[in-house]
Amino acid sequence: MSNVKAWQQWNLIPRVLQDLSLGHTRAKLVERECAWPVLIAPMAALGWVHAQGETGMALAAGSQGCGLVVSNQTNTPMHEVARALRTDAQAGPLCWQQQLSRSTVSAQLELAQAAERCGYEAVVLTIDAPVQGVRDTERRAGTRTPRPPLAHPSPHSPALPTSGLCQGLAANAPRWTEVQDFLHHSPLPVWIKGINHSDDALRALDQGARGVIVSNHGGRVLDTQAPTAHRLEVLAPTVRRHHPQASVWVDGGIRRGTDVFKALALGAQAVMVGRLALNAFAHSGALGVAQALRQLRDEFEATLTLCGCATLADIQPEHLERTWG
Ligand SMILES: Cc1cc2nc3c(=O)[nH]c(=O)nc-3n(C[C@H](O)[C@H](O)[C@H](O)COP(=O)(O)O)c2cc1C
Repeated sequence: MSNVKAWQQWNLIPRVLQDLSLGHTRAKLVERECAWPVLIAPMAALGWVHAQGETGMALAAGSQGCGLVVSNQTNTPMHEVARALRTDAQAGPLCWQQQLSRSTVSAQLELAQAAERCGYEAVVLTIDAPVQGVRDTERRAGTRTPRPPLAHPSPHSPALPTSGLCQGLAANAPRWTEVQDFLHHSPLPVWIKGINHSDDALRALDQGARGVIVSNHGGRVLDTQAPTAHRLEVLAPTVRRHHPQASVWVDGGIRRGTDVFKALALGAQAVMVGRLALNAFAHSGALGVAQALRQLRDEFEATLTLCGCATLADIQPEHLERTWG
């Protein structure tokens, strides 16, 4: 089932006649108080989508009080993206996303140090895509890499074995030892992105991650992977029991304010949006993204109000009803 459909499978149960006079949507994300708990997910090569590139996306996020996770595969250097957002006190946290392989831990740590110097506040470590998924649509469309080129080419990897899974690529996939090494030396707090199993969440947090992100890469890596709404429901209570201070974020299929509400009711502290922002960006650049985010926020505030919640702390699992099983 798709991520989008899974959110729609939950029905809302409003509570009425509550005191909403001091209501707000403020939330603590990374180290700051933000207007609402939404970040833009890391997406590679935004310069291929719109000429404004990552800087345009950053300005749109800042204008709507959203956080931004910048992919390490950008067309704009990391310091230029940071400059667009860093001085904006209203913006959400600025995070830097990167990807480990077995041979690149020290190079990735250098990148994290560079990100810290630029003003990034956290690292998002993506661990669920050591090899490319099977992308039939891209193949059929004959997709080729356009310009401009990437600003941070991947660190050099040594020669791979010529046999083994995925032409030897799987041998270079990171393991828990590399993640532990990275967490131990990272200059910034780390969120691990691509977690779907409770045991993996606990292991990441036991090793020192500040939080985990329930994500299946927007369904782009492993076909028929379980939707994130389903995995969040299982994983969030386990994390809360064992690591009450840790934060759980989720992405995948978030399109409406009701989806944001449902994610929080299932135990997430924040959500990330990918295609919602990307499609608006392709259509009308930063202005389009700002409008899409504003609409998402209006929908979320209306949902909060109509469900009788003054603040995010009032959102409970009891506001949801399963429509299956
Ligand atoms: C075009 C595109 C590029 C992406 N690039 C990255 C990336 O560089 N790093 C990463 O961790 N995730 C990447 N993702 C996955 C997103 O961060 C996110 O997990 C996903 O888009 C969320 O699902 P949604 O698009 O339904 O909101 C990409 C997604 C898209 C659509």
